Amino acid sequence: MAVHRLGGEPLRYRRARRIARILRRRCFLGIFSVSFLSLLYLAFFHPKLSFHALHHGRVNQGNTGHRSIISTLYSSDNESDVSYVSGKAEAETSRHPRAKSHKHHVPCDIEFVDSVEDLVEPENYMNFTRFSLDYIIEEEAFYQTDQSEPLFGGRQSIEERENSFYAENQTIHCGFVRGPGGYPGSGFDLDEKDKEFMATCIVVVSSCIFGSSDFLRRPTRSKIGTYSKRNVCFVMFLDELTLTKISSEGNIPNENGFIGLWRVIAVKNLPYTDMRKTGKVPKFLSHRLFPSARYSIWIDSKMRLNADPMLIIEYFLWRKKSEYAISRHYDRSCVWEEVLQNKRLNKYNHTAIDEQFLYYQSDGLIKFNECT
Ligand SMILES: *[C@@H]1O[C@H](CO)[C@@H](O)[C@H](O)[C@H]1NC(C)=O
Ligand SMILES: *[C@@H]1O[C@H](CO)[C@@H](O)[C@H](O)[C@H]1NC(C)=O
Ligand SMILES: *[C@@H]1O[C@H](CO)[C@@H](O)[C@H](O)[C@H]1NC(C)=O
Ligand SMILES: *[C@@H]1O[C@H](CO)[C@@H](O)[C@H](O)[C@H]1NC(C)=O
Repeated sequence: MAVHRLGGEPLRYRRARRIARILRRRCFLGIFSVSFLSLLYLAFFHPKLSFHALHHGRVNQGNTGHRSIISTLYSSDNESDVSYVSGKAEAETSRHPRAKSHKHHVPCDIEFVDSVEDLVEPENYMNFTRFSLDYIIEEEAFYQTDQSEPLFGGRQSIEERENSFYAENQTIHCGFVRGPGGYPGSGFDLDEKDKEFMATCIVVVSSCIFGSSDFLRRPTRSKIGTYSKRNVCFVMFLDELTLTKISSEGNIPNENGFIGLWRVIAVKNLPYTDMRKTGKVPKFLSHRLFPSARYSIWIDSKMRLNADPMLIIEYFLWRKKSEYAISRHYDRSCVWEEVLQNKRLNKYNHTAIDEQFLYYQSDGLIKFNECT
């Protein structure tokens, strides 16, 4: 699960005075499967930049800290991985007595405010360098000669990557890179109508199921207030296979593309054959997918949203003056252990895991907590 703040104009609560009362203080943050807690991060990228800068694919982003933190999480993040391989994961846990599914995890109690009615978005409380980013949307022609395919992430040199960490106005690679003139897209293709819809979203809750790896969990309607039902976009990204499967299970999108609160968006031409990798696209690049969004919540498909998104934003970001928030892993808080676990469960090519892990360390990752 994830929420980001992405910039844009302050939310206009005052205009939406008649907001349904939120009755409960308690939240059970999507703990549907207690065995696997998703990672929750609430992030906002550069709070107080002008809305006007959001046109033309320009999105304001925050300081450089994010990117490194998020990429660190990539390796320690177990939740999406689980969701894409749940069947396998279950089989494996029986062979791994230390796996968390044997523990009983209770949902956390969170002191949400009682109601979203009087929420006022705070003035910018972050003290960031202001800068804006543009994104490379079309690759240079250089690889036409070597006949290689366009890559979703483009072909970024190490130097470009290093420079992308500086908090300055610049143009960077950030996914969705097309091949040079006329070359087909590199994947994650969306319908124009869906894109139009997504461009209107100011607060987004999103999730994804690719490769038919899960069933659809709907947000708990009774916990979601009227303001959020009207103003928050709940977007579920699916591939065709998953869409067919959930339709056959009776979850058929209505004429506007909704299944309950979820606006279902079919993704074509998935950029990676590895569904876990494809799932990282909506998870980490919501600022690309929702160019007008100010806040975005990511929720893993293994979890059910069980609290009003505005209450989540208020609690984790506004009240704590944070730029983003990440849920703890139930069992592990150490990348070193996560690496071992991923190998133990054969989640991925071990050599590739090692390479990635070494890269994080060369980027400065150190044991910062109770790692042993
Ligand atoms: C992580 O993923 C594996 C399956 O891939 C699962 O068995 C395990 O319980 C998950 N959680 C933890 C904490 O390892
Ligand atoms: C913001 O950060 C700058 C540079 O780090 C510092 O000089 C300034 O005092 C800070 N302002 C506030 C209000 O904290
Ligand atoms: C980025 O560009 C804007 C104008 O487009 C300018 O006001 C701002 O100072 C620049 N920021 C940095 C960090 O260079
Ligand atoms: C594992 O990854 C390494 C390095 O990335 C690569 O050379 C190797 O071919 C991969 N092995 C398999 C079985 O994919």
